[in-house]
Formats: sequence, C-alpha cells, structure tokens
Amino acid sequence: MTGELSPIDKAKFVAAKRAAEMVEDGMRVGLGTGSTAAWLVRCLAELVQEDGLRFRGVPTSTRTAELARDLGLEVISLDEARWLDLTIDGADEFNADLNLIKGGGGALLQEKIVATASDQMVVIADAAKEVENLGAFPLPVEVIPFGWQTTQALIEETLVSMDVMGRNATLRMNGEVPFVTDEGNHILDLHLGRIGNPRQLALVINQIPGVVENGLFIDICDQVVIGFADGRVEVRDINAGTVSEDRLDFVETDNLFQDI
Ligand code: 5RP
Repeated sequence: MTGELSPIDKAKFVAAKRAAEMVEDGMRVGLGTGSTAAWLVRCLAELVQEDGLRFRGVPTSTRTAELARDLGLEVISLDEARWLDLTIDGADEFNADLNLIKGGGGALLQEKIVATASDQMVVIADAAKEVENLGAFPLPVEVIPFGWQTTQALIEETLVSMDVMGRNATLRMNGEVPFVTDEGNHILDLHLGRIGNPRQLALVINQIPGVVENGLFIDICDQVVIGFADGRVEVRDINAGTVSEDRLDFVETDNLFQDI
C-alpha cells in the first residue's frame, strides 16, 4: 500500500468489498461508475484472481469498462447480456426508501438502463450519502446538445410548479468546455436544495423535449451497503425489510491497494 486511505475511501472500500461478496459464479453483473464503483471493480478482480470467481460484467461507462478490462475482468455489452442478475453501483444521495440521486460522475443514463435491466440493484455508499430529503446534491439531467439552452429554460419554468426549494440549472463543464457524456450529450445540474416529491419530479422532467434522462432513481434500488471508516458495514434490504451489520478488516498488503 503506497498511502493511507482517507476515512471516506475506507468507508467506500468496505462497502464495495462487502457488496463484491454478493457476486456468485455465472452471474451477469452491472458494474457502476464512480470512485466507490471503482473499488468494487478492484475487489471483484481480486476475487477472480484469488478465489477463481467467474462472472461477466456489464460496465456503465467507458471509464468502468477500461478499468474492468485492465484488471482482467470479462466484459460484455448489455445487449449481449440481455438481462442481469445484479447491478452494483454508487450513489450521490439515498433516502430511507432507497430512492437515489445519481449522475455525479455523468454516467446516469447507462447506469439507469443497466440497473433497470437487473433483478437486483445494490448501492454501495459511505454513510455521508444518506439524506432525509433528496436534493442537496444537484440533480443531474442529461440533455441532448441541440437547443440545450431552450431545454434548460423549459426545465427552470417547469420547476416553478414543483415542490422544490431552488430552481437554478447549470451546464456541467469540463474545464472550459461543456462536459460530454458517453452518449455525446450534456448534463444540466439542477440546484434544488430539497425535493418534496421525487417520484413526480422524475416523471415531469422526463416529459420535457431535449431531456434524455434524469438522475432520480425511484424504486430501482433493492439494497444499500453502507460503509464506515472503521470497517463496519450495514446492509439494508428494502424488500425484505432487514438490516444487518458486519465488520471487515483492512489488509494493507492487499493487491488492491498497490496502484492507489
Ligand atoms: C456516477 C454516479 C456515481 O455513482 C455517484 O456520483 C457516486 O460517486 P462516488 O462513488 O465517486 O462517490 O452516479 O454517474
């Protein structure tokens, strides 16, 4: 290990490691995007190398696909898989109903398609991602580049009649130029503060021409694995109504940490 992990990274790591244990031989597994999902990919690669785990992964971004291939995982497309046993992904926020805001990494479109095509979606997150009300994290909305400013104006106008605190939408940038998603689209980040009715907002936003998809994941997530910096993990299952706790050890000699 070349450097001490931050408390947040330790929390993300233990959540990812616990969720990796849910992957069984022969499964088709959606691989999320972001720093927590990157830990997952590393944990899975270790299980493949050390324990002979066999599974096929469907990445939710070019970033995740590159990492998975670099680590020797078998990668297939969603169309090759058709349906997935399990998707494991990070989130920007989750609430008590396991509804989510996603898209901080700009991959919400593929993430939502892949999660929706899965028997189970498991979110891995550090405890700071849990919120009472969604919306403090700006809600990402993927829009096509054509007429994006008109789409932005329509979204802001629509928000006037929605139960939200703020209504400002900003174009996500990548340095001096607009951020471009894997599908060649842009992202508008909606600074809402608090979303009173996430289900209604998700439906209404998607009706606006130019909007491809929004980052609200409603009734998609089945379980959340919450990691803590001291190695504790809590697994909540919304369907079974169960909560279980566990503790994982950090093994500093793990191959996992060599490139960190
Ligand atoms: C990417 C996402 C990520 O899952 C989300 O942004 C969380 O990222 P991280 O694990 O780095 O905190 O939705 O589009």
